Amino acid sequence: MNGIEGKVAIVTGAGRGIGQAVALGLAEQGALIVANDLDQEPLNETLSQIEAMGGKGVGLAASVGDANIGTRLADLAVSSFGDVHLVFTAAGYTWDGMIHRMTDDQWQAIIDIHLTGTFRVVRDAFNVMRDNAKAAMDRGETPVARHIVTVSSQSGFGNLGQANYAAAKAGIVGLTRTVALEGAMFNVVANSVAYGAIDTRLTRARESQEERHGQAVLGIPKSRRDEMVGDLPMKRVGTVEEAAGPVIFLCSDQSNYVSGALLEINGASHIS
Ligand SMILES: NC(=O)c1ccc[n+]([C@@H]2O[C@H](COP(=O)([O-])OP(=O)(O)OC[C@H]3O[C@@H](n4cnc5c(N)ncnc54)[C@H](O)[C@@H]3O)[C@@H](O)[C@H]2O)c1
Repeated sequence: MNGIEGKVAIVTGAGRGIGQAVALGLAEQGALIVANDLDQEPLNETLSQIEAMGGKGVGLAASVGDANIGTRLADLAVSSFGDVHLVFTAAGYTWDGMIHRMTDDQWQAIIDIHLTGTFRVVRDAFNVMRDNAKAAMDRGETPVARHIVTVSSQSGFGNLGQANYAAAKAGIVGLTRTVALEGAMFNVVANSVAYGAIDTRLTRARESQEERHGQAVLGIPKSRRDEMVGDLPMKRVGTVEEAAGPVIFLCSDQSNYVSGALLEINGASHIS
């Protein structure tokens, strides 16, 4: 019993990659999933997989850049399953460029999706969490543990060609540590995960894929990627399952006293 069964989980970016692996991992543990993605088709695929494993999920295809995304997701969670207990914010993409060539649009798009999108989703979920925790406290009960996990990155410590993304991912850590303090008395814990290189379309060789997000071409040029993988202590990138496992732990009752932490998930590549 890890406390996840029956909990209601909002997962953004749940159509692909790490968000999908977390949505499926939480559903496997019995969580009720409110899945979001920008793209309807991959979102449907995640929901079908949840259904196939006997789980329950509902979906909202929308951008985390929408001003009302947080309330829409929180309302969907409450109308479908009655509460919000878990949040994982994976939605996002990269749009790289060296700072001397980075446009205002390029900067703003990444700040909007990663930092402001995370803020809105967390704020509006937190409102429901706090209200329901207060109601339990008013009844003289200890509120059930609720968990927020946000997604930072090793790039949040600085990375070539990613001034926009690094700033957003560093900002997410400050946001999350603040929520950890504000949630503590309501039994809401908040932590961030900072991934190194995980095998998704964001880190595959650019020449081997046609993945785009608007004007941004996703992936890493092959020669740079080969060099990067060669420099990794494990000589390989992580799998999405390896990215999701620690998040499942951070959503479980085993981590009810872990809050304000930044868990680096990178196969030791932060040590050099
Ligand atoms: N893959 C890595 O190595 C790595 C490393 C560090 C951090 N991250 C972070 O992990 C998270 C997940 O990335 P991933 O690697 O699984 O990528 P991915 O592209 O496989 O999955 C991201 C999902 O987010 C969705 N998305 C993009 N913009 C969105 C928007 N505006 N609104 C809603 N959904 C949107 C995409 O459609 C996609 O399904 C991202 O925040 C990314 O920055 C990834």
